[in-house]
Amino acid sequence: MSNFISLKNVSKKYLSNINVNALKKVTLSFSLGRSYSIVGPSGSGKSTLLNILSLIDQPSSGIVKINNETINFSNKNNNDKIRASNIGIIYQSYNLLPDFTALENVSLAGLALNNNKNISVSEAKKIIANLGLKERFDHFPSQLSGGENQRIAIARALINKPKIILADEPTGNLDYKSAKKVFKILLNLKKNNRLVIFATHNREFASMSDCKIEMIDGSIRSINGKI
Ligand SMILES: Nc1ncnc2c1ncn2[C@@H]1O[C@H](COP(=O)(O)OP(=O)(O)OP(=O)(O)O)[C@@H](O)[C@H]1O
Ligand SMILES: [Mg+2]
Repeated sequence: MSNFISLKNVSKKYLSNINVNALKKVTLSFSLGRSYSIVGPSGSGKSTLLNILSLIDQPSSGIVKINNETINFSNKNNNDKIRASNIGIIYQSYNLLPDFTALENVSLAGLALNNNKNISVSEAKKIIANLGLKERFDHFPSQLSGGENQRIAIARALINKPKIILADEPTGNLDYKSAKKVFKILLNLKKNNRLVIFATHNREFASMSDCKIEMIDGSIRSINGKI
């Protein structure tokens, strides 16, 4: 479906001692089956945009629709549900639970939607094995490399079968070789009718996406590729 996510005139102002217009009337749409990179200088609004798309942050004005449903940002409980069933999020610093094994980190996330532990564990095993880490089920995050931790974080993002994958500088902490591996996996996720959006400072990885969105000072500067 085209326009699985759409933003119309979305703005975000941070009002504190210094006011910042982090997003200025951004209008954009995203389609299933495609990958999108968001590039632009530090402070241009990439994370702000991703945080709104992940329903973690609230725009100051404008309309966000997911699967034709207009998001009501004040309905936090409903948005938590929408996020749990539609959106997988991958962070630069993995954000895995340190006291849980790789398998537990992934299977616990599965329990958020499906209360069956056995199903969740077997699904987690399948996904982790598919990402090449079946020898690492019982490792704790501190016993994994950066690239391995990020692949576990990707597995965690996939366990609830989300249509939307959002990643904010997912390889910012990785060496080139591990970063390339993680990006290959990320870009492949658009298969199965998913949509993948990632912010990166790396031009090579950005140009591997179907559509490159360049931001500057809270606005879209250019769109390269099919939306
Ligand atoms: N909580 C906040 N309060 C005030 N201003 C903020 C806040 N969060 C972000 N900003 C400002 O909003 C602007 C956009 O920030 P954002 O984090 O989206 O940039 P970015 O493109 O992700 O940058 P980077 O490449 O460094 O991650 C910046 O000028 C930033 O200083
Ligand atoms: Mg950022």
